[in-house]
Amino acid sequence: MTHMTTDTVTPAGTGTPVLHASGVTMRFGGLTAVRNVELTVNSGEIVGLIGPNGAGKTTFFNCLTGLYIPTEGTVSYKGKVLPHRSHLVTQAGIARTFQNIRLFANMTVLENVLVGRHTRTKEGLWSALLRGPGFKKAERESEARAMELLEFTGLAAKRDHLARNLPYGEQRKLEIARALASEPGLLLLDEPTAGMNPQETRATEELVFAIRDQGIAVLVIEHDMRFIFNLCDRVACLVQGEKLVEGTAEVVQGDERVVAAYLGTPFEDAPGAEEVAEVEAAEAHATDRAPGPDSTTGATGTTSTTGPEGDPK
Ligand SMILES: Nc1ncnc2c1ncn2[C@@H]1O[C@H](COP(=O)(O)OP(=O)(O)O)[C@@H](O)[C@H]1O
Ligand SMILES: [Mg+2]
Repeated sequence: MTHMTTDTVTPAGTGTPVLHASGVTMRFGGLTAVRNVELTVNSGEIVGLIGPNGAGKTTFFNCLTGLYIPTEGTVSYKGKVLPHRSHLVTQAGIARTFQNIRLFANMTVLENVLVGRHTRTKEGLWSALLRGPGFKKAERESEARAMELLEFTGLAAKRDHLARNLPYGEQRKLEIARALASEPGLLLLDEPTAGMNPQETRATEELVFAIRDQGIAVLVIEHDMRFIFNLCDRVACLVQGEKLVEGTAEVVQGDERVVAAYLGTPFEDAPGAEEVAEVEAAEAHATDRAPGPDSTTGATGTTSTTGPEGDPK
């Protein structure tokens, strides 16, 4: 892990609000995907966002990052209301990764991170295209910073590999490196360990702690409860678009409503295709007995796009 340069290093616990979402509601036609959600992330914090599939977590992220214009409510970053334009939100200081990995598949690892830097480089598009005098210097600096981030995320040795040739877990890391390249004050991670094996998940945990230690606040969506409760200072649980509970890991873990929201799915991990198949197989064979109470599933019909490996155990 190498040194990273950041201009805002805040010791953990000195909470000034970085993100404040106030009364955020998102409707799609008749469906209210997010309902009147209030959430604050303070400097130095790692905050978790959990909830069953279809609860509105990704939609909420999209409202925070300007991809969606919330039907109601406002989102502020460091006290300023954000515009509804994703590049302006990035410029303000919020970076994100996506539930479905979004990389430039045919660009190299290094190029993917360089793309993430463009909101921060002073050299404009034309200077870059025309290779003006300022460009070479800016390019060298950008590349140095990008390499620093690749070292930080453990991808330096892969700098010249095409993104599409990386194993799944490294693609997720690369998305984080690219997000960090915009020099954010807040990083939003949407299911960063989906499809990872247990070692990769632990490495991601360490990476998120290291990011927080660099002075970047983190808001993370994840189904892996062990990951969430190890990592987060505070956890909010969304159910059917509403914030049901918010508190420390102990408070949220002990809340019956949270347990109920996950009823029928294994509490420790996301409901995965393998588990659904297992349940279905068990049900198909249980012809001689009445189905037990746990044959109902609390998950909605939508399956998240977990990776090729299914759920980490
Ligand atoms: N662009 C959209 N148009 C219509 N409905 C949407 C759209 N995006 C999400 N939804 C719906 O909003 C609800 C919440 O989805 P999502 O935010 O993806 O949940 P989560 O990330 O918690 O699994 C779901 O019912 C989903 O089908
Ligand atoms: Mg989602």
